[in-house]
Amino acid sequence: MTTSTILDHGADSDGSASRFGVDLATTKPGTPGGVFMRQFWIAVFRGKDIAPGEAKPLRIMNEDYTIYRGDGGDVHIVDARCPHRFALMHLGWIEGDDIRCVYHGWKFDCRGQCVEQPAEEPGFARKVQIGSYPAREYIGIVYAYFGEGEPPAFPPFPIRETEGVLDIWNAELVPCNYLQSYENSMDEVHVAFTHAPGGSHAPLAIDLPIVSAEETDWGLLRLGTRKNGKARVSLHYAPNVTRVIVPPRTGMNITGWREIYFHFTPVDDENQVWFIAGHTEANAEEAAEYRARQAEYDKLVAAARPAGDVARELINGVGRYAETRHPDLAVIQDIATQAGQGRIVKREGERLGRSDIAIIQWRRILARELRAIADGKPRKKWTAPPRDVVPTLGF
Ligand code: FES
Ligand SMILES: [Fe+2]
Repeated sequence: MTTSTILDHGADSDGSASRFGVDLATTKPGTPGGVFMRQFWIAVFRGKDIAPGEAKPLRIMNEDYTIYRGDGGDVHIVDARCPHRFALMHLGWIEGDDIRCVYHGWKFDCRGQCVEQPAEEPGFARKVQIGSYPAREYIGIVYAYFGEGEPPAFPPFPIRETEGVLDIWNAELVPCNYLQSYENSMDEVHVAFTHAPGGSHAPLAIDLPIVSAEETDWGLLRLGTRKNGKARVSLHYAPNVTRVIVPPRTGMNITGWREIYFHFTPVDDENQVWFIAGHTEANAEEAAEYRARQAEYDKLVAAARPAGDVARELINGVGRYAETRHPDLAVIQDIATQAGQGRIVKREGERLGRSDIAIIQWRRILARELRAIADGKPRKKWTAPPRDVVPTLGF
């Protein structure tokens, strides 16, 4: 069986429309899910992957854009194609904060206004616009706003502010719908099983937590209560960001746990990209040590096969899950389980239990909001997450 055969199985529908009254998985423009997602800042690119004067194509939530960095360092996002005759804008030139189309030289400023048309009559340019979208950077990630009106407060969520190292992992393209991964991030039980081979999460697998969750003004607060009565607190910021404390990365000898900010960004309904930033508490000396070890670790990852390739092989029965070894093993394990559910999991047939309570809770919230959008009814006013609600280790 080919890779595409397995991954494409179940791609037609998540089955959620009949169960929830709305399609929870889609983020296509104009759909309730698409409108819901476009209320928020969405992580779209790693800042270090685009240099001043560079432009690249970008696909987010089923729509195509151009991302470019002006010569002064600011990042901008405009539509994928020139409104003249639809050439791809990322092929063009950056001039200051403007972008010039490679086909006939039309130039647009970063707000999308056409400001030059070398072969046209004067006065035509001011009638021509390309779509432009607010873009800002935070923790090494470019965020964009694709919704109506003014964007919400920026940054979209707080991070730990203690002294330490902030780093960003590889952007991982994952061949399944984003909601599967957001749901997985609410599933604290999976770590004791999915990540058992390799032992990356062994400290979290000492027993199985009793999961509970409550809706907040900004998302979902989840507790995983252990046998000793202590609870690990994790935060899920609407619509697709999870903030948790996790063990040190596999293959690194750092003893301190890390606060991690996971972003599950829809590329289209069947693909997503993970942007993962981490904050490790460290003084200046520890930070230097950490960076040196991280550089060694990065070399190991760079020399290894891409995690996504290994995960696809496991999905297709090549190699054995329990025997797989790789510097990015936890990522492979997560991709294999989540993408292995199908491009868009058929939620209709699932058998959910007590440990799925946070997933159930988020689906209820999502379905409620999507139905409100579909029916033109008032929706929740999401607020900026407060600084004083933080994840805890629970040990
Ligand atoms: S297509 Fe862009 S200038 Fe003609
Ligand atoms: Fe996981």
